Amino acid sequence: MSKHTVTELKKRKKEGHKFACLTAYDATHARVLSQAGLEVLLIGDSLGQVIQGRSFTLGVGLDDMVYHTQAVARGNAGSLLMADVSFARAYDLSTTVESARRLLQAGAEVIKFEVDEPMVPLLHQLSRQGVPICAHLGLRPQQVMREGGYRVKGKTQEEAKQMLALAEECQTAGANFLLLECVVAELAKQISARVQIPVIGIGAGADVDAQILVLYDMLGLHPSPPRFVKNFLAGQDSIHAAAQAYHASVLAGEFPAAEHSYR
Ligand code: KIV
Repeated sequence: MSKHTVTELKKRKKEGHKFACLTAYDATHARVLSQAGLEVLLIGDSLGQVIQGRSFTLGVGLDDMVYHTQAVARGNAGSLLMADVSFARAYDLSTTVESARRLLQAGAEVIKFEVDEPMVPLLHQLSRQGVPICAHLGLRPQQVMREGGYRVKGKTQEEAKQMLALAEECQTAGANFLLLECVVAELAKQISARVQIPVIGIGAGADVDAQILVLYDMLGLHPSPPRFVKNFLAGQDSIHAAAQAYHASVLAGEFPAAEHSYR
């Protein structure tokens, strides 16, 4: 099975070919999903909710992220592995470098963290150290307390303008990927057209370069799924088949449909 890389996925964007990502938290799912063809597996801090039963991601520690990254790396058969920096572990250079170092040593190949304007210089410094980065924009679950809940981003002109500028700044600072969570589809489309790095969307419409879902959501396990979730296990007889159906649907541009997007 071939190994997916940062360079290859950037080339896909240039050629106009989509790719598909899912979260994974353990070796068995990593094996099944990578064998089903998923280009990227994210060890997301959503493990706080779906594995640990918490209400938010804030209680997840770096040790948790390292433990699950090691497990996924042992089972992985060719997907590019991306791991989240946990809450409050990306606020100055030495803390961020230490977080990235531990995740890379655990088997991650790309480090993802939630970014706002003041964090761009940090992203630049980290990139100069050679760390492959995915900048997470739009809805940032680690800000849930400050924001008083989860809401769709990019609805006002001002917010859209700021996000477009931030996306370009992240690219200039050295980010290798952008991840847009719960962003108005038209804005996500504009961002994807404006940058040369691949844009991965979740609740960001179809006009981006790749899609991601939380594994357990796409297996129909969310008790009250948000609009952007689709159950791909329905009508399939295995997790492998569900992952293949999701992968094919993303690559064909069939998922997400308008009903899964915010306009
Ligand atoms: O932690 C996570 O699973 C994520 C996805 C929602 C993209 O960041």
